[in-house]
Amino acid sequence: MSRTWRLGVAGLGTVGTGLLTFLAEHPRFAPAGGQAVVTGVSARSRTRPRAFDISALPWFDDPVALAQSDEIDVFVELIGGSDGPAKAAVEAALNAGKPVITANKALIAEHGRELAELAESKGAPLLFEAAVMGGVPAVKMVREAFVGDDITSISGILNGTCNYILTEMESGGRAFAEVLAEAQRLGYAEADPTMDVGGFDAAHKITILAALAFGCAPNYAAAEIEGIEQVELIDIQMARDLGYRIKLVASAEQAAEGVLVRVHPTLAPLSHPLAQAGGALNALFIEGPRVGRIFVQGPGAGAGPTAAAVAADIADVMTAAVRPVFQAPAGSLKPFDPINPSKMMGRAYLRFLVKDEPGVIAAVSETLAEAGVSIESFLQKPVENAGGVPIVLTTHATAESVLAAAVERIAGLPAVLDKPRLLRIARI
Ligand code: HSE
Repeated sequence: MSRTWRLGVAGLGTVGTGLLTFLAEHPRFAPAGGQAVVTGVSARSRTRPRAFDISALPWFDDPVALAQSDEIDVFVELIGGSDGPAKAAVEAALNAGKPVITANKALIAEHGRELAELAESKGAPLLFEAAVMGGVPAVKMVREAFVGDDITSISGILNGTCNYILTEMESGGRAFAEVLAEAQRLGYAEADPTMDVGGFDAAHKITILAALAFGCAPNYAAAEIEGIEQVELIDIQMARDLGYRIKLVASAEQAAEGVLVRVHPTLAPLSHPLAQAGGALNALFIEGPRVGRIFVQGPGAGAGPTAAAVAADIADVMTAAVRPVFQAPAGSLKPFDPINPSKMMGRAYLRFLVKDEPGVIAAVSETLAEAGVSIESFLQKPVENAGGVPIVLTTHATAESVLAAAVERIAGLPAVLDKPRLLRIARI
């Protein structure tokens, strides 16, 4: 089939200009024997300096007008944001029956089901490979390659900015705020880093993967989210002394009662593949009863990797690959029943700042023992600090509600000087 696919590209930041560069450098990019040409572009500013010269491309001030234009066959949305112009333009393109390709994780995580219903009712593909893990084909893998298994859990590092910051904190012995400021100066972190460091970006991505893996509708509102702003250097160093590295881990698990999706700083043993994925790398475990456990890692962001993911979706449109938007047609997706995590069993890392006086450690361990929490390892480092001494311990697997209650009681002991710190230890 030799036809020309006319693309409208809205959003010309890193990914948009990366895509235009890719298409210009690969004029024969034609998986189905046809041709992809850009026949319209739109962005907030036409004139801002870009890595790709757009002056020869037809310009649209309004992305919705581009999405509906008769001059395009496929709409590529790289604007970002869960609502606003991105959502309006995607809806307009789908309503016009045009295939949509997007890198917008917030849009899919927060409005995935309604958009899937619209796309499927119009017979238009809605593809979002670039929304999760950039150049790593996580969406295709989970949606398509694992269709012969029943995935039970997915977990990994889905935000490169957080991974970079945690890696730099450990290697340079520097505090979160200092590393973040440097990352912003170097352009690795956004001027407003909240979506990344607050864990929200990773939560959008794991919400999408959970929906694809478990055949349920995406439910971002049910995700439990904790970012890395509160990770202190002392925790990175104490964890390391105990044989662990702190990573921001996003996980989704399926149990009989429902689904649990969460993002939080997690201790991974130093030899664990997640602990080994340093810098801005992304990494993912997928587990199912038949395939067992799969591990992939790679670049989760950047012009080249993300544009390659968009190009893979363009190829799917050109080859007329037909799939439901999620694991099953939107109308038959299962409801997403969130699990109450209080009964979840897991190991934990606890840090307390205590007075350096007799009987304090006994009081802490007695409180844990009374609650039924078993200590696995213990670390106290001598510090010349009149303000107290940090003690750190790890526990054996304990129900989260039991652990939380024990920690609250320890926080009330007279010798405990500050709010205790609790971090979970990776379960895989
Ligand atoms: N900001 C994301 C990250 C990349 O740091 O991983 C785009 O999702």
